[in-house]
Amino acid sequence: MTEQRIAIIGAGPSGLAVLRAFESARRKGATIPEMVCYERQPDYGGLWNYTWRTGTDQYGEPVHGSMYRYLWSNGPKECLEFADYGFEEHFGRPIPSYPPRAVLHDYIKGRIEKSAITHYIKLNHSVKWVSYDEKAGKFTVTVKDLAADTVTSEEFDYVFVACGHFSVPNIPEFPGLAGFLGRTLHAHDFRSADEFAGKDVLCIGSSYSSEDIGIQCYKYGAKAVTFSHRTRPMGFKWPETLSEVPLLEKVEGRTCTFKDGTKKDMDAIILCTGYLNHFPFMEDTLRLKSRNRLYPPSIYKGIFWWGNPKCMYIGMQDQYYTFNMFDAQAWYARDVMLGRIKLPPYAEMAADIQKWIKLEEAVEDPFQAIDFQTEDTRDLLVATDYPRLDVDEVARMFKEWEHHKMENILTYRDHAFKSTLTGTLAPVHHTPWMKALDDSMEAFLNQPGTQAAAE
Ligand SMILES: Cc1cc2nc3c(=O)[nH]c(=O)nc-3n(C[C@H](O)[C@H](O)[C@H](O)COP(=O)(O)OP(=O)(O)OC[C@H]3O[C@@H](n4cnc5c(N)ncnc54)[C@H](O)[C@@H]3O)c2cc1C
Ligand SMILES: NC(=O)c1ccc[n+]([C@@H]2O[C@H](COP(=O)([O-])OP(=O)(O)OC[C@H]3O[C@@H](n4cnc5c(N)ncnc54)[C@H](OP(=O)(O)O)[C@@H]3O)[C@@H](O)[C@H]2O)c1
Repeated sequence: MTEQRIAIIGAGPSGLAVLRAFESARRKGATIPEMVCYERQPDYGGLWNYTWRTGTDQYGEPVHGSMYRYLWSNGPKECLEFADYGFEEHFGRPIPSYPPRAVLHDYIKGRIEKSAITHYIKLNHSVKWVSYDEKAGKFTVTVKDLAADTVTSEEFDYVFVACGHFSVPNIPEFPGLAGFLGRTLHAHDFRSADEFAGKDVLCIGSSYSSEDIGIQCYKYGAKAVTFSHRTRPMGFKWPETLSEVPLLEKVEGRTCTFKDGTKKDMDAIILCTGYLNHFPFMEDTLRLKSRNRLYPPSIYKGIFWWGNPKCMYIGMQDQYYTFNMFDAQAWYARDVMLGRIKLPPYAEMAADIQKWIKLEEAVEDPFQAIDFQTEDTRDLLVATDYPRLDVDEVARMFKEWEHHKMENILTYRDHAFKSTLTGTLAPVHHTPWMKALDDSMEAFLNQPGTQAAAE
């Protein structure tokens, strides 16, 4: 039999999880397929790989990055910790629970460098088209080498789509927006809160981007921040200059009018209206179509394309769990490919998808959403040799985090949690988050006289 080949699209946390899963099996003696991981950015790490660029990059490709300067983890690091590579192992000592972006990027890269698996990754390679030939039972993957400016096609037996889904902005229209006399941008293009010092900022949306970009602007000196919601307000206890209003109805000059009749003059409108699941390089019969949700339809176990399970999607869920959930998916998919787990017949897969979708539809609040994703992740973990991950403790920490946010949205990042791997309670960061203006790794790790935190 000829060697099986797998293509992995994207070297963010999801694609890297796939590489790590196979490498872990190889090191335990398994024969693994040939792997090629295509990454269109000049470095791996996905969204955690910061770029100042917006729009298109130096090769004319759409810029993937949605992260901004001063972005800190918005959940405790103890909830996303890889079970096979802890933070203490990487940094050589305990670090606080809410690291800035650069620290998490370093952690993601550390695991990959330690496993010596970077040779599987082809950087500056953008996947342009994926099709499947039923007769041959093979995928054709067409890729552009961006630096060489050449396009080639190769055949593969399996494809992993790990390209992320928080990169292509969802940009709604509002009456009069085209004539707005201030600055308009989407959260995808937001890079630095300093730009909005002294300004009246409107953030449209009531989810994580809106919440975090709004408080970043406040932290770096915005005059006022107004949050406009479509469905429901966030309901946090905001400081005096932050407020919530219903949806934007129209814009005239600088004046924004909202559904309740409130009017306010704005200097900037930031559309924090989420992202599209956008996979233009997948042929119609393989393309996942979904909004941002906990259980996207048509993928069995949240992974296997129902019509053709040799096509696998990793990390396509709305995310409480991130890095370790991507690992759980990658380990499960690997074991299916290695013949250790057998997929059921199509009808059973369809029924299972429907079962999870029904459960998801019954979810009423963030606490139930956390429980849902905990069960979804547990379901995958029990089937593989991924090191033990205490998802019950992770769920408990996520719920505590939700309570901290409701108590005080400006101080929730000052709390500390215990690693489920080592049991160590994280030290409190040397500076409260609202006063920590320098988000560099050096500033974060410069932790004089590490003190233990009250949990
Ligand atoms: C602003 C923002 C802040 C976030 N903050 C947090 C946080 O604090 N904590 C947390 O746990 N999660 C956070 N997330 C969630 C984030 O989705 C995950 O942490 C994680 O990055 C997802 O990994 P991924 O590999 O699935 O996708 P990505 O990180 O998006 O990586 C996908 C990779 O695929 C590549 N790619 C895409 N298309 C192609 C193509 N056609 N050809 C080749 N390569 C391609 C991209 O260049 C990219 O490197 C945040 C997300 C956003 C948008
Ligand atoms: N580390 C950090 O601090 C940080 C910061 C930002 C983002 N993130 C991550 O990034 C990911 C994406 O978060 P996100 O907030 O960008 O997306 P999201 O969670 O999908 O939320 C999208 C928001 O846009 C609103 N919206 C969509 N279309 C709209 C329209 N036509 N008019 C008005 N509002 C509209 C939605 O409103 P409805 O509720 O009405 O649907 C929702 O509030 C999350 O995983 C998050 O954790 C992390």
